[in-house]
Amino acid sequence: MPDFASLMDSAAFAERLGDLLRQRVAPGLPLSGGAVSLVGAGPGDPGLLTLRAMHRIMTAEVVLYDNLVGPEVLALIAPAAERHYVGKKAAQHALPQAEVNAWLVTLAQSGKRVVRLKGGDPFIFGRGGEEMEALLAAGVPVEVVPGITAATGCAAFAGIPLTHRDWAQSVTFATGHLKDGLQDLDWAGLARPNQTVVFYMGVSAAGGIAEALIAQGRAAETPVAVIYHGTRPDQKVLIATLDTLAQKINAGGLKPPALLIVGEVVRLYQPNAASGI
Ligand SMILES: C[S@@+](CC[C@H](N)C(=O)[O-])C[C@H]1O[C@@H](n2cnc3c(N)ncnc32)[C@H](O)[C@@H]1O
Repeated sequence: MPDFASLMDSAAFAERLGDLLRQRVAPGLPLSGGAVSLVGAGPGDPGLLTLRAMHRIMTAEVVLYDNLVGPEVLALIAPAAERHYVGKKAAQHALPQAEVNAWLVTLAQSGKRVVRLKGGDPFIFGRGGEEMEALLAAGVPVEVVPGITAATGCAAFAGIPLTHRDWAQSVTFATGHLKDGLQDLDWAGLARPNQTVVFYMGVSAAGGIAEALIAQGRAAETPVAVIYHGTRPDQKVLIATLDTLAQKINAGGLKPPALLIVGEVVRLYQPNAASGI
């Protein structure tokens, strides 16, 4: 059995990978004429990109990317390709969504192979659905390349199983960035036991989220993990309970982007998980 390094260098390995890329990864979009790939870049670690995402990023003529896409992933863009930052940070919109949609349409109609690159999965709290609708309405060919969303990627990387036969029979992804305040969510449903709830964009509202869950009956001592920059070299994981969450986030100075994972499964957190935490 060859060791891993010599296997990677071997002609047989390159041939197998080449076949896979040619037969299963490259097909998808028309090779000529403009088109847009809505590509999920995963939670940050470039090793968590899909092969198709890697292929589309490396062969794009123009890439529009947001602020959750890490530098190692951006480094895959061809030097000759155009790249434009169109991302948003909370309360600081770099470019209105309608302008991003219109730009994608114009680029594709000018014959470019465009990648719209987003953190995580393009269809989970990523406005990928709105972009797809705008492109299809304009008659632009579009494909979607799924990515590992932050909830599954960051949790698994930290050794937290989002479901577990003993602790959680379901998992819900919710946004903590609420248009009309806390009344936007079904707190009674989210507070039920035996489930995990993952809040995206929930750091700023963490105190209100914890209070709403406790008010609807979730135990105050329910564990919560806050994962900042999950899967990245500067990842931080903070463990709290619902009643200590706001105070611990303040004391730890944790800022977005971070996820809140609420539920008993957090007790299984592995600071030394195989993913290298
Ligand atoms: C606009 S949402 C985009 C989610 C993305 N489409 C996905 O599927 O992961 C941005 C939020 O995702 C979460 N997020 C994304 N990447 C993360 C990471 N590497 N670590 C922690 N949270 C992350 C944070 O809650 C952040 O505020």
